[in-house]
Amino acid sequence: MFERIDYYAGDPILGLMEKYSADSNPNKVNLGIGIYYDENGVLPVLDCVKTAEERIADPIAPRPYLPMAGLPGHRKGCQELLFGKDAQILKDGLVATIATIGGSGALKVGAEFIHDWFPQAKCYVSDPTWGNHIAIFEGSDVEVGKYPYYDKANSSIKFDEMIAFFETLNKNDVILLHPCCHNPTGMDLTQAQWDTVLNVVKARELIPFMDIAYQGFGEDMDSDAYAIRKAVEMGLPLFVSNSFSKNLSLYGERVGGLSVVCPTVDETERVFGQLNATVRRIYSSPPSHGGRVVDIVMNDEALHEQWVGEVYAMRDRIKGMRLKLKSVLEAKIPNRNFDYITRQNGMFSFTGLTPEQVERLQTEFGIYMVSNSRMCVAGLNTSNIDYVANAMADVLKD
Ligand code: LMR
Repeated sequence: MFERIDYYAGDPILGLMEKYSADSNPNKVNLGIGIYYDENGVLPVLDCVKTAEERIADPIAPRPYLPMAGLPGHRKGCQELLFGKDAQILKDGLVATIATIGGSGALKVGAEFIHDWFPQAKCYVSDPTWGNHIAIFEGSDVEVGKYPYYDKANSSIKFDEMIAFFETLNKNDVILLHPCCHNPTGMDLTQAQWDTVLNVVKARELIPFMDIAYQGFGEDMDSDAYAIRKAVEMGLPLFVSNSFSKNLSLYGERVGGLSVVCPTVDETERVFGQLNATVRRIYSSPPSHGGRVVDIVMNDEALHEQWVGEVYAMRDRIKGMRLKLKSVLEAKIPNRNFDYITRQNGMFSFTGLTPEQVERLQTEFGIYMVSNSRMCVAGLNTSNIDYVANAMADVLKD
């Protein structure tokens, strides 16, 4: 009966995690999945989250179903983080926001919405992008295309090519953008480049869908949201999916949000209703625990301030690792340019290693990175960085 079912080859990122766990090499290093590990190689529980957990645990409360859109405080937390605490569009009620099951859940609900209400739209993703972007939109029967983004030869962005490509798109085509900490390349647009992109979006009446999973890991909470706020300032319709997996270190709780910026209150209500309907038919309503943590941390002024500090500490540690990695590699291979490592933002570095070199790192050294050469810099620490840099130098030299 089930013999005709296709085997699943596994996910290139999540599968790597399983392979790493099964590796008995005592020196193994996990630089695959986008997870922040601290200086001791441990997944941190943020102090602000500990406080929130203590409040949730005392007293232990009943667990009713949440509304389809999730907790109001979770939704408000998403909105203020993305658009700014005093944003006029929030006062005017022009943003439909639902709490979602992580950033992936937000993308899925958004993709379903696009499929249902903009059936002619194609969705264009950066080349390259996070693999699940393509899988999620195609899984909702939205046709996916790629726009030029990363110039491998120069470790830079193909900006002119990208703009020229956007100029060819049709009204209501969706372009999926990474407002900060591009996954997988780590190469972000400057603010001036964002302005140019958004002018094309406006002129060609495209639909920007911004996926922000690393807010706070680039420059700061506000600068990382520049593209989102600029789009709002320009009066553009906008989809934003956001994730708290990384910046609250709440990976397994699956907390995120989907926000749609609309031109009028009536349209906002219609969109909000349809997002609710989409949630109802996929998973009915989100789980409550992670949403309560988000609600508490985002809406308590002191905890929020503590949280921002904790995110910036993670950001700074990653930046320190970039500097160190670059300097060790420069010393080992003086004729090669490693500037890209510190020009990239967020958790990832696109190293430009060939699949064979990535494979050698894994089999000979127990160092795991994604086969497209993406390294999660957040997996480096002072104990493993020399080992990793030396191994990289070895495979690069041969
Ligand atoms: C990643 O890109 O490694 C993370 O977003 C985790 C994932 O689900 O792929």
